[in-house]
Amino acid sequence: CGIVGYVGFRNATDILVDGLRRLEYRGYDSAGVAVRTAEGLRVVKRSGKLAALEALLKEEHLEGPLGVGHTRWATHGAPTDPNAHPHTTEDGKIAVIHNGIIENYLELKEALLARGHRFRSETDSEVFAHLVEEKYQGDLFQALREALKEVRGAYAVVVVHEDHEEIVAARTVSPLVVGLGAGENFLASDVPALLPYTRRVIFLHDGDLVRLTREGVEVTDLAGNPVAREVVEVDWTLEAAEKGGFPHYMLKEIYEQPWVLENTLGGRLREEEGDVDLGLALDPREVERVHFIACGTAAYAGWYGKYLMEILARIPAEWEVASEYRYRDPVVDGKTLAVAISQSGETIDTLEGIREAKAKGARTLGVINAKGSSITREVEEVLYIHAGPEIGVASTKAYTAMLAAMALLAVRFARARGTLSKEAAQALIREMRKLPRLVEEALEKRPIVAHIAEKYHQAQDFLFLGRHVQAPTAYEGALKLKEISYIHAEAYPAGEMKHGPIALIDERLPVVVLATRGPLYEKTLSNIQEVRARGGKVIAVATEGDEEIPKLAQDVIYLPEVHPLLAPIVSVVPLQLLAYEVAVLLGRDVDQPRNLAKSVTVE
Ligand code: G6P
Repeated sequence: CGIVGYVGFRNATDILVDGLRRLEYRGYDSAGVAVRTAEGLRVVKRSGKLAALEALLKEEHLEGPLGVGHTRWATHGAPTDPNAHPHTTEDGKIAVIHNGIIENYLELKEALLARGHRFRSETDSEVFAHLVEEKYQGDLFQALREALKEVRGAYAVVVVHEDHEEIVAARTVSPLVVGLGAGENFLASDVPALLPYTRRVIFLHDGDLVRLTREGVEVTDLAGNPVAREVVEVDWTLEAAEKGGFPHYMLKEIYEQPWVLENTLGGRLREEEGDVDLGLALDPREVERVHFIACGTAAYAGWYGKYLMEILARIPAEWEVASEYRYRDPVVDGKTLAVAISQSGETIDTLEGIREAKAKGARTLGVINAKGSSITREVEEVLYIHAGPEIGVASTKAYTAMLAAMALLAVRFARARGTLSKEAAQALIREMRKLPRLVEEALEKRPIVAHIAEKYHQAQDFLFLGRHVQAPTAYEGALKLKEISYIHAEAYPAGEMKHGPIALIDERLPVVVLATRGPLYEKTLSNIQEVRARGGKVIAVATEGDEEIPKLAQDVIYLPEVHPLLAPIVSVVPLQLLAYEVAVLLGRDVDQPRNLAKSVTVE
């Protein structure tokens, strides 16, 4: 979501709306502003695109030199007017904007309700407004600090109070940038909103709190100690700023994966109960078979989903590309759950596939990124992946978010059907919690990946191998490379290689092998040996501490230890980076590869 804040001498409303327009690419299902006017703090907000808010503001005439604004991409609660930000306390004196997820919001909300607070929205963010109100004793910055001590999760949060000429804010995980002016200061979730006004910015770090007045900016830690942060002069063009300083959207999106995973998983894990909360009405006990239907990258997420569903929940599951599914008269009945997986929610084959299943009497679920898209209107229920807008044509962050959604779904089904013990589920959930950090560590492998790309970018072909849950990872790695570098790449389940593709292996063929620790690790080593024996060059993706691998592979990318069933979520990251680095070396158009479209709405 996008955040903008202003304190100074101009009319805040104009600056907020202008800033929000520059952030619309961050989310656009509702928008709102809070402005400190002569009549007190006033909030105007509305569901729908920014234009709907602008129309309303034309009638309302909010005038004042301090305000905050938000454009939303819904997580908790539907995109309705009450769920739009800012959220206010009942007396309307405090207004809050929040990006991210409050993991313990149910507990906090119950406690606040018991103490007499009344809520107007279904969002986790409203909790913040009430918490700050409780802690407030005349010092707004202090109240925010106290409130944050009770909150667990990821946030960029911004608070204003009718009686104070200041904006206070804080961040963990979700980004927040301060813009410095003369007699005015700015705040935003992303640099593009600041560029027309200032290029002197402070990138807040995790755990920072900030207070902005006309005259100055003060940064502290959670304990209230002052923190010195560097003032940076950004020389980005607007386009570069929209890419967050990265040369391509794809790379930016690859680097967004830690917080995307936090978004997908954060608010849904219930470690104490050993379960996940997906807010679905569907009873998993009524399902006898699952069909995952999708295209491209999303289809590989379906493959992973099939494995997890069968392994954890013991339900027969299939995955299939939608263009086949829709025309082959699949066997479907009322006990079949058809799951459409799609980033855009608009892919025509996936849409028609789910329609076909529905027509045959299946129950339907969408695992979708884009709110309000066609597939979301076709299915009974939706599990949103909350990856934020994905602009690079080659899907990256939507894939890892889809994988995380598959894990969530499988755990829920397994728990409902009694195939996974509470303890086993808790252990898995603890591992899921680590994923954002593990992906962060995987991103740190970029230099070695770049080195490997340098070595092999002239190759004519690549082979990708993986077994078990890493088979889909191999396919996704090959797909990424094909899509953006135009190098021919083929993927195979490693054990199947001997039945054909082994004939292709010679000293010119780089072979990427997913050889992370797991039940089939030893078998994968044998496959590596088969490649070696025929002169193939092995690039292994392995688990840190594995000392066998370097004896067999020319190049090794080490990844942190992770639960074998969750390994694909971490392992795909270096493969995305490999495709990216190779494509850049070959001078390809990474964000808009030839012949491909982001969303395919033709058959
Ligand atoms: C296109 C894109 C792929 C994507 C596929 C499915 O082919 O180029 O990156 O995986 O569509 O898209 P969806 O929006 O349904 O996930």
